[in-house]
Amino acid sequence: MRKKIIAGNWKMNKTLEEGMGLVSELSNMLKDEYQGSAEVVIIPPFVHLNAVSKLIADNPRLASGAQNCSNHKSGAYTGEVSAGMIGSVGCKYVIIGHSERRQYFGEHNAWLAQKIDAVLTAGLNPIYCCGETLEERENNSHFEVLEKQISEGLFHLNDDQIKQVVVAYEPVWAIGTGKTASTAQAQEIHAFIRGLISKKYNEALAQEITIQYGGSVKAENAAELFAAPDIDGALVGGAALQSRSFVDIVKAMA
Ligand code: PGA
Repeated sequence: MRKKIIAGNWKMNKTLEEGMGLVSELSNMLKDEYQGSAEVVIIPPFVHLNAVSKLIADNPRLASGAQNCSNHKSGAYTGEVSAGMIGSVGCKYVIIGHSERRQYFGEHNAWLAQKIDAVLTAGLNPIYCCGETLEERENNSHFEVLEKQISEGLFHLNDDQIKQVVVAYEPVWAIGTGKTASTAQAQEIHAFIRGLISKKYNEALAQEITIQYGGSVKAENAAELFAAPDIDGALVGGAALQSRSFVDIVKAMA
């Protein structure tokens, strides 16, 4: 069975003290309230990664991840952080191509393909984000946009490499807006993405890939989304900033 993954992306929120408090709460609440098998991933800002990773090190249900990384291995790239450094503090995942990186920092598919390679070379798992804008959905070009994001970002990988990738479908119009894609809309796109992977590789491999949904996921809509056959978890932003709302989302994954 495909792995189910619920990840909380803190974006640029929380001081170290606030973040450590949140992780302690999460870890205690999950111990008491969640017996399921989904992996829970905490994705704080870079500066907290070492501390957060240490705090969760002996909890096998929790993992940590970074929100971005450099496409380079090392060198004179002021302000950048390499995948190898992220791995060295105990992280397992790196988000690549979040729509906020695409939109505000000009990250495009060719560049993201290099970042995917950097993450895999470091032995980590990329969470590769894709998703259309409202305009693209309204003019009905969303399938084309998604196909381009998936093929240009991922289809240079071989079978073993693509199996290490988690895909996150995050319609840009649903991120931080309170507007969630309906379960039917999300399921349609998840099945489409799995179909693209099946066509490029093969059906058995496509069935192994975890595809998360992201965009205003909350406790109230999580259970319905998770019941859809191709939705394998969530990438959560706003609702991951509080232990109660995040744990309730995790608990929605049976
Ligand atoms: P949101 O963010 O849950 O606040 O909409 C999701 C994301 O950007 O990953």
